[in-house]
Amino acid sequence: MPSKQKNKSKPPVGTSLAEILFSQGFGSRRECDGLIGTGRVAVEGQVVEDYDALFEPQGLTIQVDGVTWPVRERALVLLHKPAGFECSQKPKHHPSVMSLLPVPLRLRGVQPIGRLDEETTGLLLLTDDGPLIHKLTHPKRHVPKLYHAVTARPVEPDQLAKLLAGVVLRDDPVPVRALACEKLGDNTLSLVLAEGKYHQARRMIAAVGNHVEQLRRVAFGTVTLPDDLPEGQWRWITLEEEAALISPPLAKNVE
Ligand code: URA
Repeated sequence: MPSKQKNKSKPPVGTSLAEILFSQGFGSRRECDGLIGTGRVAVEGQVVEDYDALFEPQGLTIQVDGVTWPVRERALVLLHKPAGFECSQKPKHHPSVMSLLPVPLRLRGVQPIGRLDEETTGLLLLTDDGPLIHKLTHPKRHVPKLYHAVTARPVEPDQLAKLLAGVVLRDDPVPVRALACEKLGDNTLSLVLAEGKYHQARRMIAAVGNHVEQLRRVAFGTVTLPDDLPEGQWRWITLEEEAALISPPLAKNVE
């Protein structure tokens, strides 16, 4: 574990523990000093009460009140969104998905990367990196999103064909089409969409004569919803998942 640098001949290396805590959303500088000074912070399992102690933040793990946190320059997490939560910061009818996240993530200002409507469940990515949100939701980037829908009426071959060929939605003259579409059961289908238009999956399925009863997002780009993550729970995106999500080349130039 890196230790506090006292050698006068060398400049100190690393970032103070207080600064690291502050960068990770643990409150004001004063509050971070207080957490450290009262012995509530450990680094790699060892309590550190000196808020000036220097550490290399990259790859560091800290514990605050016994909860382990990876130190990350960018917060990027995956939430298994339940029904009955709004993606807005200022929800109107239901609680916000933000209420499912711990305070440090909220203080870091994480925001959903593309919204799900309140009744839709499944994979929601959130980050505090505004330019990343812009990149991954930019229409030109065509990030594929996989949905599973339970429909009110049986899924018919002509409905799948129309979804693939493209349908015109009421408020938009440009047809939108599914990149892929498959029947999964009598009343279930999968749908891959490149855009993120308002209620897009529900409106497309309505446009081909069916009706969505349940909608679940199963994948966003290269990230898939883990089978073992219960609804309402979140986890960090691993660095490998992050690299894969961000690295695919753009379909067209995106600023
Ligand atoms: N399409 C919808 O209709 N709702 C969502 O939440 C996402 C895609």
